[in-house]
Amino acid sequence: MKVNLNYAKLADSYLFSTIAKKVSEFIKNNPDKSVIRLGIGDVTLPLAPKVVEAMKKAADEMGVQETFRGYGPEQGYDFLRNAIVDYYKEHRVSLEPDEVFISDGAKSDLGNILDLFSQDNVVLIPNPVYPVYVDTNTMAGRKIVFADANEENGFLPMPDESIKADLIYICSPNNPTGAVYTKEQLKKWVEYANKNNAIILFDSAYECFIKDETLPRSIFEIEGAKTCAIEFCSLSKTAGFTGTRAGYTIVPKALTRDDMSLNKMWVRRQTTKFNGVPYVIQRAAEAVFSPEGRTQIKKNIEYYSENAKIISSTLDELNIKYFGGKHSPYIWLKCPNNMKSWEFFDYLLENAAVVGTPGAGFGDNGEGFFRLTSFGNREKTIEAMDRFKKLFG
Ligand code: MLT
Repeated sequence: MKVNLNYAKLADSYLFSTIAKKVSEFIKNNPDKSVIRLGIGDVTLPLAPKVVEAMKKAADEMGVQETFRGYGPEQGYDFLRNAIVDYYKEHRVSLEPDEVFISDGAKSDLGNILDLFSQDNVVLIPNPVYPVYVDTNTMAGRKIVFADANEENGFLPMPDESIKADLIYICSPNNPTGAVYTKEQLKKWVEYANKNNAIILFDSAYECFIKDETLPRSIFEIEGAKTCAIEFCSLSKTAGFTGTRAGYTIVPKALTRDDMSLNKMWVRRQTTKFNGVPYVIQRAAEAVFSPEGRTQIKKNIEYYSENAKIISSTLDELNIKYFGGKHSPYIWLKCPNNMKSWEFFDYLLENAAVVGTPGAGFGDNGEGFFRLTSFGNREKTIEAMDRFKKLFG
């Protein structure tokens, strides 16, 4: 018997678990301090009324013989797949319902998709980045090459023809830096992938924060992407589903490699290893895309965007350099006084009782940076910024 020794190459615990542990220790030792959490990107506003109404109605259906449902289709119910197809149409992306796969969130599918790829693929991952991409590939023992994201390129690395990559991760709007690729920039990635037979794994979990209609919300807005990309999205940030769990993955039928259809492979994978998202949750997700649901979730997104403005204007006032916060719920700031990321994390926690995420946790290019989220509640965000002003003003 041998265990998967690749696990020994991982950091002891997942970034956000490490932070949660540190914070609970701090709270235990400082029971009098009121801690403000702007660390993990977890939402604070409740679900939209339309979503709750749909969930209740679906729960009632499950208690009645005639409308009770057992196993659902593993890829999701048609009503939700169709709602997502319609949503994409608004961004001039035309999809077929069986290119849309309902999941319990982007994180799971970003990990699960690796089942479709050979272990000897070379993976290109931006640095810094959402730690799931690195950790899941490390678990699988794949070779990882990093694409430098830094201040010079505005945290938006571009393809390098001298690097031969098979799988390419792109997250735009980016977690953690908040940087967003333009259509022209994404086009270069699509060209690179098609030319080199690579596949782009595009994480669009933060697309709903894009305010500029000229910026792409989906990789499929780029011509040629259907032959080289898979897209992952989630309702976690769009509609506050972090605890409700629903997302979707788009695997185009035009995507083939080695005479195999990736769409068919994903159907095979999902029907074998996944029993689908609960009916009640899928009805709730459907409500997100209804006109009333859309209006309600828009209000929540505006609330978080206003928080982002409060944070960025405080940083402007304090002359602290930052990125993001405009088309993203994340503000990526340069640690004041040249502090290192974890040093700043401890300093901020001890002196202001504010929690953020150390940039170094997203990769070594994140060293010296720090991520704040705008998903907090308004009063607490304002209070956190007052504490910043006292500390750095
Ligand atoms: C984050 O804080 O980066 C996100 O909440 C993580 C996630 O969505 O899994």
